[in-house]
Amino acid sequence: MRGNIIGERFIVLSFGESHGRCVGAVVDGCPAGLSLREEDVQRELDLRRPSSPLISTERSEEDVVEILSGVFEGYTTGAPICMLTWNRDVRSEDYAEIRYKPRPGHADYYAHVKYGGFHDYRGGGRFSGRITAGFVMAGAVAKKLLRDVLGIRIIGYSLEIGGVRAGEFTLEDAERNRYGNDVRAPTLEAAERMRERILEARERGDSVGGIVECVAVNVPIGLGEPVFDALDADLAKAMMAIPGARGVEFGAGFAAARMTGSQHNDPLIVRNGRIISEKNDAGGVIGGLSTGMPIIVRVAFKPTSSIPLEQKTVDLRDLSEAGLRMRGRHDPCIVPRAVVVVEAMMAIVLADHAIRAGFIPPVLRRGD
Ligand SMILES: Cc1cc2nc3c(=O)[nH]c(=O)nc-3n(C[C@H](O)[C@H](O)[C@H](O)COP(=O)(O)O)c2cc1C
Repeated sequence: MRGNIIGERFIVLSFGESHGRCVGAVVDGCPAGLSLREEDVQRELDLRRPSSPLISTERSEEDVVEILSGVFEGYTTGAPICMLTWNRDVRSEDYAEIRYKPRPGHADYYAHVKYGGFHDYRGGGRFSGRITAGFVMAGAVAKKLLRDVLGIRIIGYSLEIGGVRAGEFTLEDAERNRYGNDVRAPTLEAAERMRERILEARERGDSVGGIVECVAVNVPIGLGEPVFDALDADLAKAMMAIPGARGVEFGAGFAAARMTGSQHNDPLIVRNGRIISEKNDAGGVIGGLSTGMPIIVRVAFKPTSSIPLEQKTVDLRDLSEAGLRMRGRHDPCIVPRAVVVVEAMMAIVLADHAIRAGFIPPVLRRGD
């Protein structure tokens, strides 16, 4: 029952359960000589924590990261980097009911069948959004590697929440504003409207979904190993592994289906002696290879399934139809917290492909 490892050369193993002892990740294949401190990882983890109790879960984990191996005297050694955070704010009694009354929209029933009832159901176990803390830890290492060696920057934000889409903005606006507001919107005006939608839903005991957009700039041409390890294929796989993700698109995405070739093609031009494209409807990937233009990915997230409104389920003990109102602490919208997770998955895949394509060496010399 494998399935917890991603990557060929920058390999990430995810471990831990929502109410188990800890959650974390092991990174194998990170080059030696990358300057890495716990603060580098902590900064990223802090961005995944509930941004405000009104629009996020009231579960409040401190999420203090511990790097257990693979770093010596402030630099990666080339050995596996094991990182974790201990679970402390656990209230498993809130979940006693779902052992026998699976939540509609969550993995409870299907995991119960697949693992013969042996899985750790508490708080959703391996299917909880909490495991993404480990994704973010590994993503922090990947981000640092990409930034330090190649100058790649990764910028994510909430493009849409509960049907409210951000209006016009630039990447600079998004970079400046996204972590200065609790819904991670690219503009403060959009943040206000998105927050209202979340609060409205929460008031009714319901939840909303939305779309995270993530842009990677400074990516060199040629990352991706067609055909099955095409860059877009690997990015889509990584994004769809995020709990709650329902769809992925690149550049013009699904809108491309309604465009003509002459509208969709990105014309090639020369600027400052470099061949670039005049626009970027491809979203930075063509033929499974990075084009050197910004990589633009959008990930759609569903509305949180655990809601206080009563829903129909089945009591597994006697197969009677039953009602379920979810108590416990849940995000009325997971989108704001998913932003840094999407960034992490982008970084993990790009780091893996940058190593595979030879853009990152196995040892980083001091001063590199
Ligand atoms: C950061 C984050 C937080 C999440 N919080 C919750 C939550 O509080 N309640 C919930 O029901 N689902 C939450 N989810 C989503 C579920 O984990 C997910 O819907 C579930 O595992 C079923 O998988 P699927 O939706 O990908 O099919 C969260 C996801 C993420 C990424």
